[in-house]
Amino acid sequence: MVSIDVAEVTRLDGPDLNELCDATESAIGSGGGFGWLKPPPRQTLENFWRGALLVPERTVFIGRLDNVVAGSAQLLRPTRNNEAQVKSVLLTTNFVAPWARGHGLARALTKAAEDKARADGFETLNLDVRESQEAAIALYESNGYVRCGEHPRYAHNGTAWVTGYYYYKDLTA
Ligand SMILES: CC(C)(COP(=O)(O)OP(=O)(O)OC[C@H]1O[C@@H](n2cnc3c(N)ncnc32)[C@H](O)[C@@H]1OP(=O)(O)O)[C@@H](O)C(=O)NCCC(=O)NCCS
Repeated sequence: MVSIDVAEVTRLDGPDLNELCDATESAIGSGGGFGWLKPPPRQTLENFWRGALLVPERTVFIGRLDNVVAGSAQLLRPTRNNEAQVKSVLLTTNFVAPWARGHGLARALTKAAEDKARADGFETLNLDVRESQEAAIALYESNGYVRCGEHPRYAHNGTAWVTGYYYYKDLTA
């Protein structure tokens, strides 16, 4: 039996940051990098995570499997001028390292993000995925997310355009 733990973090100490960078590198290496096509230098990854913690609109969650950081998710709130979207929040960079997949960690990260979004008064959670991210699509569609759009030029994988899907979830339902 594995242990799963998800926490909102405002700082990352040495071991947690190292494990999070290890998890990120392996997820990018297996084709599931949020934006990156191949793992960037370690310092760039560390800067990415430190930077995410500094952005006021971002909330970072980390997920541990058997006490090792193995995944993460972020909520991205609208900027302060964006009154028209004040009830909507974006779920982004939700991933789990390949070695830790299949144990419910992504489901737990997603639930933690939804709970935080509801507690902060958001009523809609938006997200987007590449059409090739079949596990993520199954995760979201089994969890009440509704596909509401498709973009044929959503991303470029270095060789060809990749279609993307947009989803939303009604957090008040
Ligand atoms: C998608 C991802 C986050 C799932 O992580 P995970 O911890 O293995 O997922 P969980 O164990 O919590 O599984 C939750 C649900 O996801 C779906 N799922 C997970 N792995 C799956 C797979 N290989 N095939 C099909 N569905 C899968 C299932 O619906 C599963 O529910 P179930 O266990 O009741 O069947 C992980 O595969 C990943 O990081 N992929 C690359 C990055 C990515 O696609 N991120 C999402 C978009 S930003």
